[in-house]
Amino acid sequence: MSNPLPSRFTLDDLREARRNGKKLAMLTCYDFTMARLMEESGIRLILVGDSAASVILGHDSTIPVSLNFMIEITKAVRRGAPRAFLIADMPFGSYHASTAAGVRSVCRMVKNTNCDCVKIEVAPRHTILVRRLADAGVAVMAHLGLRPQAVAVLGGYKAQGRTRPAADAIVKQALAFERAGAVAILLEAVPPDVSQQVVNAVGVPVVGCGAGPACHAHVVVTHDMLKLTPRAPKFVPVLADMAAGMKAAFAGYMDQIAREQYPGPEHAYSMLHDPAKR
Ligand code: KIV
Repeated sequence: MSNPLPSRFTLDDLREARRNGKKLAMLTCYDFTMARLMEESGIRLILVGDSAASVILGHDSTIPVSLNFMIEITKAVRRGAPRAFLIADMPFGSYHASTAAGVRSVCRMVKNTNCDCVKIEVAPRHTILVRRLADAGVAVMAHLGLRPQAVAVLGGYKAQGRTRPAADAIVKQALAFERAGAVAILLEAVPPDVSQQVVNAVGVPVVGCGAGPACHAHVVVTHDMLKLTPRAPKFVPVLADMAAGMKAAFAGYMDQIAREQYPGPEHAYSMLHDPAKR
């Protein structure tokens, strides 16, 4: 059912949700059509995640996706969801070489896509980059916990913050990035105790991705939720089997053609005039 949204969702609305305790749903999106459907369904927070590398391009990690590709799909998502609070993921390599290179990449993303916020998988040395961006007026979401772009040093896609020192380090970093000017924190794959501590420690909205109920908003990869990927992480609610629906449609199409039921007369264009009658 179509549910047109009244106005653009803003950072103030996100902050207000933190204040009033209203939990928000965020989904990943990578194309115009899905963005339009999300906006019509009332989804107010959309992340153009670098998970596009796997979900859209078929890579086995997020590392290969380019900044150009992320910009192009973020533009498409913005066209489909003009009123959503749109968060653009900064891909691997686009902010690693130096602070200046990071600022340049983020400026390209913001100027070209009309996104509301950029998400950066942050390590402690990125506080300077986040401060520069905040000074320039860019809204930054600092991504902590499991950082898929750092899979090589994390030793795999594992939950983070599961020991006391590791949990304390995440809370400390969340505070450092809030101080540096991040407008929100995203926590991926951490125990609920850790997200609760982060929520208690910082004043900005906290988005969880497999991070327990204390977070103010929750995000999952849409294709996992729709069962379009072969396996979803355990924290994902699988709410529809779109793969089964799509496969049934593909089989039905093949069948109709094989039986010569398609195309029928109702699918044919009629002649505008008969040249023989001229
Ligand atoms: O790229 C992505 O989809 C993400 C979410 C899983 C948080 O970063």
